Amino acid sequence: MAHDASHLPVQDPVALLRERFVAAIDAAFPTLRAEGVAIDPMIVASKQAELADYQSNAAMGLAKRVGKPPREVAGAILAKLQLDDVCEPVTAANIAGPGFVNVRLRKDAIANALMSMDAPSLGVALSGEPHTIVVDLMGVNLAKQMHVGHLRSPVIGDAIARLFERVGHKVIRQNHVGDWGLNIAMTTARVMRLASEGTLSIDRITLDDLDKAYAAAQAECQRDMAGLAAARQWHMGPKVIAELEAQVDGATNAFLEARKTLVALQAKEPATYAVWKKIYEVTMRTCIEVCQLLDVKVTDADSAGESSYADELAPMVDDLISRGIAVQDQGALIVRLDGSGLAIPTGEESIKEPCLIRKTDGGYLYATTDVCAVRRRVQKLHAHRGVYVIDARQNLHMRQVFLTSKLAGYATHPKTGKFAQLEHAAFGSVLGEDGRPFKTRSGDTVKLADLLRETFERARQAVQSKCDERNVTLSPQELEHTSRCVGIAALKYADLSTDKAKDYLFSFNRMLAFEGDTGPYLLYAVVRIKNIFRKAAETGVLAGEGSSWKQGPIGVNAPAEKTLALALLRYPGVLQSVGATLDLHRLCQYLFEVAGCFASFYDQCPVLNADDAAVRASRLRLCDLTRRVVEDGLGTLGITAPERM
Ligand code: ARG
Repeated sequence: MAHDASHLPVQDPVALLRERFVAAIDAAFPTLRAEGVAIDPMIVASKQAELADYQSNAAMGLAKRVGKPPREVAGAILAKLQLDDVCEPVTAANIAGPGFVNVRLRKDAIANALMSMDAPSLGVALSGEPHTIVVDLMGVNLAKQMHVGHLRSPVIGDAIARLFERVGHKVIRQNHVGDWGLNIAMTTARVMRLASEGTLSIDRITLDDLDKAYAAAQAECQRDMAGLAAARQWHMGPKVIAELEAQVDGATNAFLEARKTLVALQAKEPATYAVWKKIYEVTMRTCIEVCQLLDVKVTDADSAGESSYADELAPMVDDLISRGIAVQDQGALIVRLDGSGLAIPTGEESIKEPCLIRKTDGGYLYATTDVCAVRRRVQKLHAHRGVYVIDARQNLHMRQVFLTSKLAGYATHPKTGKFAQLEHAAFGSVLGEDGRPFKTRSGDTVKLADLLRETFERARQAVQSKCDERNVTLSPQELEHTSRCVGIAALKYADLSTDKAKDYLFSFNRMLAFEGDTGPYLLYAVVRIKNIFRKAAETGVLAGEGSSWKQGPIGVNAPAEKTLALALLRYPGVLQSVGATLDLHRLCQYLFEVAGCFASFYDQCPVLNADDAAVRASRLRLCDLTRRVVEDGLGTLGITAPERM
């Protein structure tokens, strides 16, 4: 195959070298593949930039296999390497130490690859076969104030959804709202009672009222049963027992009331349903407002609450029973996941705990609805993949739901006949700076609305003082806009830049810093590049040249240019691999690295002051490409850069 550098497809140099080294290893040791050896050329960036760009560490591992000394193996690989179109000549001198093979990319090859990347797509190939991917995110509960625990699911889920969209998949966001069941009925019953007593106006009810009603309803429905039992056991006297009995009786009444309300809700009895609907609207209005404030793409249209599955549960359960998937166990209905009943499909792990589908009293559970949701998502929405962005503590639940759905056939994609790829994108908790669950000073849970208000307020102060320092004057509207961008970037980047499976430490000071691995730092990197072009326009440096710099060739000559160029070329590969692993923090790391490479480049290579027009044009292109890569990457994370700051 002839390789022509000018037609070099844009790709990650590492991927390219990997391909070429695999071919060379295959040619040098043709029997390896037949023996079933997985050939890994082990390409890594060279630690000595003055010697090489990359190195292959494969020879050492292969030496034992082929029974030859590593340097000899390296020589055999080298003899078969075809790299002339992309690398500087490779000779015996490229073999170093115990058998590393050093390679240095040709500058024109790097420049050519960069120029073909310089397109609207930024070299990111859209998926040839777009998949339908459901992203389960948010999952708020009715009648409950959103608190800091509700921050991560929309932030992470929205970033995952944007990432899939960016690489060309069809994404369906699903907000699995907890809006059904006995707890909601308890609250509805209480709200109706207070309204009929005249102590609450349903028309003017707020989420705060609902939050209180929810807690009170919980309490009144489960008064001190344990206390009564203890009082009887310890013969605490008729007075105490009578008092407790009266309380429990109240609880029984409230409970009976709630059960009746649940039945009424299930039958969509108009008066009860209207109150529920109101509770739903009040909760969802706040939820959607929070999404807008956070620039999270979740709208009313994405809501698929538990209530939307209510009518599908009984028929689904009948189906599970009739096909012997669900079985009776001491009055309850369960699906055994330990392999003792149904065989566990190959590649799946059995689970000791069965999945509870229906309680002894006939009530359905959280898992029942979730199995029903898998069925709808795969059978009706045709999802090839389902990503559940939910707290790590729900892992057992998720695994039970996925395995049950697979055993029931609900997770089998109607077109491919294969299981949809169901995964729990689990995340850790938000901790305070003391390493304990994040609380207000008085020890209460932090309301999300308050948290956002404080973030934006602090962002505004930070932006203001930065602008003062840099002598930048922003109009009030621009200050407002920039502060929002900075606040959102700070919050999201702090969350996304650590491995999501881990807990993350919430610190306003750290996330809002303009230096270090933070959202504001990356925004500033973008703004800095925008400033270069603004300055060029203002000072007339490009007068007469117009935008001709866009057409000129890119030259990759100075070391800092080359480092930046190699980093930029990795972008498409990073997006693809993060799309597979959902390790969003790797995208963050990458963007931070690019920003760092840009800072060194800008330090070492004059752009507008370059003494040669061709060099200036080339560097402007490099600046522009950097800005687009960073903005594209940030956009994929749900972060937007302002014009100035
Ligand atoms: N409402 C649930 C909770 O608060 C979260 C829902 C997550 N999504 C799901 N499909 N289970 O725990």
